[in-house]
Amino acid sequence: MEDDIDRVLVGRDQIATRIQELARQITADHTGAEGETEITLVPILTGAMVLAADLMRHMPVRMKIGLMTVSSYPGRSLRTQGSNVLGTQLGDISGRHILLLDDILDSGGTLRRVVPMLQEMGPASVRVCVLLRKDRPAARETPVDYVGFEIPDEFVVGYGLDFGDYYRNLPDIVTLKKAVYAPPPP
Ligand code: IMP
Ligand code: MG
Repeated sequence: MEDDIDRVLVGRDQIATRIQELARQITADHTGAEGETEITLVPILTGAMVLAADLMRHMPVRMKIGLMTVSSYPGRSLRTQGSNVLGTQLGDISGRHILLLDDILDSGGTLRRVVPMLQEMGPASVRVCVLLRKDRPAARETPVDYVGFEIPDEFVVGYGLDFGDYYRNLPDIVTLKKAVYAPPPP
C-alpha cells in the first residue's frame, strides 16, 4: 500500500493540529448565553468516519451521533457519478443542532442532496464541516461552515478517503501514483 503513494499532501500531524482547532471553534459556536447546546454529529459514511472519530474526542459537549451512508464514487471512478443516499440512521433530529461531516467537498453534489434532506426533518440548525475543499468553482460555491484544508483539484486518498474502497486507513492525505489508476499493460 505504501508503494502506491505518490506524495503526501496533508500529513497526520497537520491534520491532528487542525482538528483540534476546528473542534474548539465548533464547540464555541455551539455555546450560547445559556451555556452549551447539544449536538448531533452526522458523519457521511464511509469517508467521514475517521474525521468524526478524531473530532468528537476534542468536543466536550453533550452529543449524539447519527449516520448517513452516501455513495458518490461507484467503483474506481475519479469523478462523481451523482450521489446516492443508501441509508440513514438518524433517530429523531427535530429540534436538534446538527453538525454534518464530510471528508471532502468536490462537486458539491453530496451536500446539495443531503443538507435539504436533513433540513426537512425539522432540526434547530444544520452546520456543515468538511475536512478538505478542492480548488474548483463548484466546491467554492457550495456553502459550508467549516473547512479543514484547501487542496488542489487532485484525487486524494487516506484518512477516510478511498479509491475503489481501499486506502481509507492511511493516516496521511496523499495522492497515488498514476500506475495505480491505470496500470500499464504487461
Ligand atoms: P461531491 O459530492 O462531488 O462534493 O464529492 C463528495 C464525495 O466524493 C466525498 O464524500 C468523497 O466520498 C468523494 N470524493 C470527492 N473527491 C474525492 C477524492 O479526491 N478522493 C476520494 N474521494 C473523493
Ligand atoms: Mg467516498
